[in-house]
Amino acid sequence: MLLLNGPNLGILGRREPEIYGTDTLADIERAVGEEVAARGWRVVAVQHDCEGALVRTVQEHYDTVGAIVNPGALMIAGWSLRDALANYPRPWMEVHLSNVWARESFRHDSVLAPLASGIIVGLGSLGYRLAARALVATVE
Ligand code: DQA
Repeated sequence: MLLLNGPNLGILGRREPEIYGTDTLADIERAVGEEVAARGWRVVAVQHDCEGALVRTVQEHYDTVGAIVNPGALMIAGWSLRDALANYPRPWMEVHLSNVWARESFRHDSVLAPLASGIIVGLGSLGYRLAARALVATVE
């Protein structure tokens, strides 16, 4: 499965910990790996700060069983990432660590969300574990 994280998520753990928590991206990647191990899935974990690199990553992983995507601020206007995910043939979950609707109004819309199989927001790093469980339950 693909675990895709967008801009500024590579610095989790030291990025506004009062909002995003203290878990690092490596902690999150490990946790997702634990959740899907029993299913025999391997996690391809990729983080990029640039939209084009994320688009390319999605294109190169259309053969994965499913995906978890935290697009970071690209949720707001990441149209090319949206289009890459529109062609992704498997279930995928959108995750946001923070409750974006409890924050600034520019975070209240996601151009990706209408395409996602499910969305988890506001549960911190637990949200990734829950998204992994949802994928395990959803993917045939
Ligand atoms: C985020 C929320 C976004 O609004 C923000 O730009 C991020 C992180 C989250 O996980 O809460 O980079 O996606």
